[in-house]
Amino acid sequence: MIGEETTVRSVGVELGARRYEILIGPGLVREAGRHIAPLAGGARAFIMSDETVAAHHLEPLTDSLARAGLASSAHVLAPGEASKSFGELSRALDWLLEAGANRGDVLVALGGGVIGDLAGLTAALMKRGMAFVQVPTTLLAQVDSSVGGKTAVNTRQGKNLVGAFYQPRLVLADTATLSTLAHRERAAGYAEIVKYGLIGDPEFFDWLEANGAGVMDLDAGLLARAVARSCEAKAQIVARDEREGGLRALLNLGHTFGHALEAANGYGPGLLHGEAVACGMCLAARYSVRAGLMADSEAGRAEDVLARAGLATRLPRLSGGPYDPSALLEHMQQDKKVRGNALPLILMRGIGRAFIQPEADRADLLDFLQAEAAAE
Ligand code: NAD
Ligand code: GLY
Repeated sequence: MIGEETTVRSVGVELGARRYEILIGPGLVREAGRHIAPLAGGARAFIMSDETVAAHHLEPLTDSLARAGLASSAHVLAPGEASKSFGELSRALDWLLEAGANRGDVLVALGGGVIGDLAGLTAALMKRGMAFVQVPTTLLAQVDSSVGGKTAVNTRQGKNLVGAFYQPRLVLADTATLSTLAHRERAAGYAEIVKYGLIGDPEFFDWLEANGAGVMDLDAGLLARAVARSCEAKAQIVARDEREGGLRALLNLGHTFGHALEAANGYGPGLLHGEAVACGMCLAARYSVRAGLMADSEAGRAEDVLARAGLATRLPRLSGGPYDPSALLEHMQQDKKVRGNALPLILMRGIGRAFIQPEADRADLLDFLQAEAAAE
């Protein structure tokens, strides 16, 4: 292959002394060793992965590390959200400590957001911080969770409530790994790509209207472009507001509704995070229309681009339901953005014009959710 398909794209996350590079393109796992070796003072790499990802992509990674002179060992977990737990965090730390890992060694997360979030927190805690590299293998992880340094485990009180901001030293987004990813997971990741267009990039949104099918079909050039543009958008926001003092909350477009949907579903496999976010962004768009902020036609475009990827845009058609409006509002009030009594929402004045509404009217929101749940 020649031309755009083989180009490795690079996006910088400008965080001063903690600046890092996101490399994007097909085949990066097979070249990982030469990118990771310069970061590994101790000449050892520790890899965390899950069983499904490891079956497809672990051997090429360990071969590449070996060719670059890095010995490696792997800790492979069961796939799924349940692995993002205190129990697995503790087991991962035991594994590293028993192997005598030190700060000069590198911890590599090979997998989706579950492995990335868990390994990131493990790296943050291990001897107060060991070098950490993300090798994201889901579309969601390549465009969102591997970038920006949010790490976490879940607790019985809820998702992502215990964690740390801990930035990776490098992100290697090998777009070829996505060929083994289930279509449903691909669509869920695509929702997060659409999110960047809706937040602040109307040109990218137009581009997705024209090229979204090619991205979903894993056309190498279109896919790399979509991942790179998404990472650029996220990197810009993270560089300005690493710890979510304000602006970074925009990245949660659709997430206040989405998290409530996931919580109502018990975080079960019946509803994926990206599916909840897709429907959540449509709810945010229609709520913006109801508030007289956004034109109906613009909300329709947002729905169409998501629906074409097979994502549900209406509450009654969302998997894992039915969803009770009062329960959803209750869950929305548990959102991490909530301060005191105020319930902030990310709304839109149009495509690419998201903003933070500091306080939503709860009675109006309930009325809206009831109408959405009853609509066809
Ligand atoms: P995931 O890690 O559970 O991966 C989804 C499924 O795909 C798993 O079954 C996994 O085994 C499989 N898989 C992964 N890569 C594959 C591949 N290349 N081929 C075949 N199968 C593959 O889920 P996810 O959607 O990547 O991430 C969701 C998690 O990310 C959630 O825990 C969420 O809270 C977190 N998240 C974190 C951030 C952040 O900023 N840190 C942002 C968004 C989401
Ligand atoms: N996924 C939202 C954030 O990283 O801030």
